[in-house]
Amino acid sequence: MDKERVDLPLNEIPASWYNVLADLPKPLPPPLHPGTGQPLVAADLAPIFPMALIEQEMSPERWIPIPEEVRALYKIWRPTPLIRAVRLEKALKTSCRIYFKNESVSPAGSHKLNTALAQAYYNKLAGVRRLCTETGAGQWGSALAFATQVFGLECTIYMVKSSYRQKPYRRSLMHIWGGKVYASPSRHTKSGRAVLAADPKSPGSLGIAISEAVEDAATHDDAKYSLGSVLNHVILHQSVIGLETKRQLELIGERPDVLIGCVGGGSNFGGFSLPFLPDKLSRPDLRLIAVEPSACPSLTKGVYAYDYGDTAKLAPIVKMYTLGHTFVPEGIHAGGLRYHGTAPIVAHLANLKIIEAKAYTQNAVFEGALQFARTEGFIPAPETAHAIRAAIDEARKDDGKCIVFNYSGHGHFDMSAYDDHLAGKLEDYEHPEEKIAEALQHLPKVG
Ligand SMILES: Cc1ncc(COP(=O)(O)O)c(C=O)c1O
Repeated sequence: MDKERVDLPLNEIPASWYNVLADLPKPLPPPLHPGTGQPLVAADLAPIFPMALIEQEMSPERWIPIPEEVRALYKIWRPTPLIRAVRLEKALKTSCRIYFKNESVSPAGSHKLNTALAQAYYNKLAGVRRLCTETGAGQWGSALAFATQVFGLECTIYMVKSSYRQKPYRRSLMHIWGGKVYASPSRHTKSGRAVLAADPKSPGSLGIAISEAVEDAATHDDAKYSLGSVLNHVILHQSVIGLETKRQLELIGERPDVLIGCVGGGSNFGGFSLPFLPDKLSRPDLRLIAVEPSACPSLTKGVYAYDYGDTAKLAPIVKMYTLGHTFVPEGIHAGGLRYHGTAPIVAHLANLKIIEAKAYTQNAVFEGALQFARTEGFIPAPETAHAIRAAIDEARKDDGKCIVFNYSGHGHFDMSAYDDHLAGKLEDYEHPEEKIAEALQHLPKVG
């Protein structure tokens, strides 16, 4: 068995997803209805999600079988390789071993397709005609556009306006796969028009785009909403990443010491690292590190509180680390990390101090991305580069540890960000404390 690149055979694509809810040391605080403030029941979610996904969202089962149709589609690019970054290790002169799980090899270029195909499949089974969603940098929108194309569904995508301008080729991908794309805030929905009335120049945010997509789905009988992160069922679908990684490390006799993923909503970090939760609970020295941008530091500077998942208060209220649902982050290039909150599962584990969090500014992130690209060849997405930066810093400790990070996506459509960094034109943003205090005044009063 080669120890520098570990490939699994097709028949080792996991047969079931792993549901971390079964192994949490304490149960998750319940999600609440945005209108009544009461704990959410399945029927509350029925206008926006098909029942199979609602059941997965709430399921206590540890293993949930992956439908054969979805598993067959996973074969397009799964199992993904686990690669040892030997040239990066050499450049860093480190005694650590660095591995990365390469999720960028999917047709859409990131981990997002793992859940997009599953969600499109269950919606198709439920007779839905059209899916509505939001997208930051366009990774999620493009993955869902491909997945809906495969299952013969229509797809409407609200793309955060700052990314709509920064990443025109991600828009092209969505168009190629048949998606209809609006720059958000748009005039297409009531929530979009309300934001534009207050701030005609709004760069948009994931919180605003979610409101638009939820409203579109809730006001059309033949449409449902699809979310690319945050929710329990999305982390469930992403568990294929961690399950394969575990098997690959086992095959080469490695035991990880540090697992690293970037966090937008939390699904790639959760899907990659949480299948290792049982190991973490029996081996406290195993570290799980979530990495976020300093411009949107929900885990490192937010509060652990109930908050709305979106700006217009249409999505459920969940307990999470939040910067406030009214917060609009600066237009950093890691558009997929510009979310004011975090997945309830990830937030809960951060609150229990089972996972750690770190934040970086964009120039530090792009320096890490360049060092990786110049040694390993692959050019990472700006989101992914957050994990790389943290892996480099861990490896610099030179303490012989086994470091594994999730290479969540490639950066082939992020060239303007790289050009700006190389030209010294990228700005670093720290999120100011007064802005956090201001946004936190708008948290819902709960309990
Ligand atoms: C390449 C890539 N990695 C990571 C993320 C972060 O998302 P999440 O935290 O939900 O995995 C995104 C989001 O768009 C992304 O595009």
